[in-house]
Amino acid sequence: MKKIKLIQKSKKGIYWPSEELKKNAWINKNTIYKKAEKDPVKFWENLAAEGIIWDKKWTKTYHEKHPYFQWFIGGKLNASYNCLDRHLKDKKNKAAIIWEPESPEEKNRVLTYHDLYSEVNKLANVLKNLGVKKGEVVGIYLPMIPEGQIAMLACSRIGAIHCVVFSAFSAESLKYRLKETRTKILITADGYYRKGEILNLKAKADEAVKKTKVKKIIVVKRTGIKINWKKERDFWWHDLTEKADSYCRPKIMDSEDTLFILYTSGTTGKPKGIIHTTGGYLTQAYWTAKWDFNLHDDDVLWSTSDIGWITGHTYCCYGPLLNGATSLIYEGMFNYPQSDRWCEIIEKYGVTVFYTSPTAIRMFAKHGDNVKKFDFASLRILGSVGEPIDKEAWGWFFQNVGRKRCPLIDTWWQTETGGTLINSLPGIGPFIPTMAGRSFPGTRLTIFDDDGNVLPVNKEGNLVQLSPFAPGMLRGVYKNPKKYLETYWNKFGKGIYFTSDGAWKDRQGNFRITGRLDDIIKIAGHRISTAELEDAITRHPLVAECAVIPQSHEIKGSVPIALVVLKKAKPSLKLTREIVKQAETFIGPIARPEQVFFVEDLPKTRSGKIMRRILRNILADKPVGDISTLANPESVEKIKKIVSKS
Ligand code: WT7
Repeated sequence: MKKIKLIQKSKKGIYWPSEELKKNAWINKNTIYKKAEKDPVKFWENLAAEGIIWDKKWTKTYHEKHPYFQWFIGGKLNASYNCLDRHLKDKKNKAAIIWEPESPEEKNRVLTYHDLYSEVNKLANVLKNLGVKKGEVVGIYLPMIPEGQIAMLACSRIGAIHCVVFSAFSAESLKYRLKETRTKILITADGYYRKGEILNLKAKADEAVKKTKVKKIIVVKRTGIKINWKKERDFWWHDLTEKADSYCRPKIMDSEDTLFILYTSGTTGKPKGIIHTTGGYLTQAYWTAKWDFNLHDDDVLWSTSDIGWITGHTYCCYGPLLNGATSLIYEGMFNYPQSDRWCEIIEKYGVTVFYTSPTAIRMFAKHGDNVKKFDFASLRILGSVGEPIDKEAWGWFFQNVGRKRCPLIDTWWQTETGGTLINSLPGIGPFIPTMAGRSFPGTRLTIFDDDGNVLPVNKEGNLVQLSPFAPGMLRGVYKNPKKYLETYWNKFGKGIYFTSDGAWKDRQGNFRITGRLDDIIKIAGHRISTAELEDAITRHPLVAECAVIPQSHEIKGSVPIALVVLKKAKPSLKLTREIVKQAETFIGPIARPEQVFFVEDLPKTRSGKIMRRILRNILADKPVGDISTLANPESVEKIKKIVSKS
């Protein structure tokens, strides 16, 4: 393959697209930002009309009534039609999904657009036959296998709302989501592979559906392990789809009908169901995928996220498929069976766009000795998402994977925003280490101080979005309008969406994201709230109270540390293990505290509020600051002693 230099360097270590990349880029003129800014509604209207196939055009493009807004009102469309049927004429035999199994010995799977289309149609008919109606929620609890995307698209074909739950989440996490959404049908698998072992997913699903409304479970046979089976309730995916019709007429949906709900952590103990609708979300998914990754016909996009996260929804499923691109998914761990497995995958499939997280990059770098021997000539664009990327990770990725010839796009967004909102565009640049780039054309992100004034350049403050809000933004929190209002719209009032992130902006409008301002920890890029973890830990019968504090970590970015006050019990290794287990049971292994400290007392104000700032400083080995307002100042020295002993 011919190696093309895609970037050029200016002084100060800033990179720009090469002339060749500019020529080949969908977007290569800076003027797009200004044009879009003049009339963002018109801008998105044109994009919706050009990128998406509508059954009926909308009558009004945008309507906003605090704290709600709508896009393409009255427009009618179907998501699966847009991802599949539209490509049948000219891309029927093109690979839509490439699936790489964890074991290199097992055969991979390639689903062409036609294959995917027929699988989706069959499953859509299955769901219909099982009684699923438009607007009903279907639960999806699957590992990284193509059935995940098939299930999502089958739901959207019949107008059902999918609610995907990350397969490594616990039975309790799944149960919470199933209960809140009153889900009647769950799609899962018997198990999946993790580092050569088989994990029994069905057992977790069985546990989760107890005392819920789930009446039927569709089970994908992935491993063939022995699982429990309830005859009237459980069905094999292959039995049902084998008998199903291969065409299902797509249900015509309203632009503002819900496409999916995806739960994410908030600052309280319970996760919230983020609602995404059809027309706006698809428009943003289509255009951000196309422009951020400069998708052309020969691209193979490997977005390494699990489908249980928003990145998996938008850049493993909807974004690439709307564009008729090839989406590569991988079942296993990057470093299994050996540390350079991810390199083998890039080489084997000629991956052109590699979109991953800073945590993954730091892990690659740690075991990066072999990377040089791989041929990465196919790569054109590198992407990063999920947490702020540090200089070292940026530099290593750029140099060792991009071989100093590929642009590195850092994309900032959230479960709530549906698609990317801050990033450099490959044909425009610049690509500056640690800077995430500009507010996407047609969107208005800016920095406010705590009183709601716009901050000048280089001043750090609250990252907010101004009206009109991007079409892919959330439309609410499932069954909780109060939480929706309080979380996103109360801090600065009408017409201002608060992201909960800190950031600053340079003179050219490039943002540097500095991290969450609330009690959310990004553990290896995964979003977990300290309150959720505290809730899990205090459910242990011997725990009186606890505080969970983030601490920085060289690979995972940050990790949770638990400070635990016991009821009448003595600290022990056994108790430490049990507390760690609480996190696993109520959330999942990703939430495991890195360390547990047993303390006598937590520093509190006179009104009983735990002073987390003090704990954070103790753990970071920084001066604790003012403790005069504490009701129990003596607790500070005691905790310091315990922490310093470790
Ligand atoms: C939070 C959202 C959206 C994809 C995956 C995460 C952090 C996300 C970046 C980035 C710095 C980032 C923010 C944000 N974040 N991307 N490029 N640079 N921070 O979605 O789980 O909803 O988390 O992830 O703190 O608020 P999520």
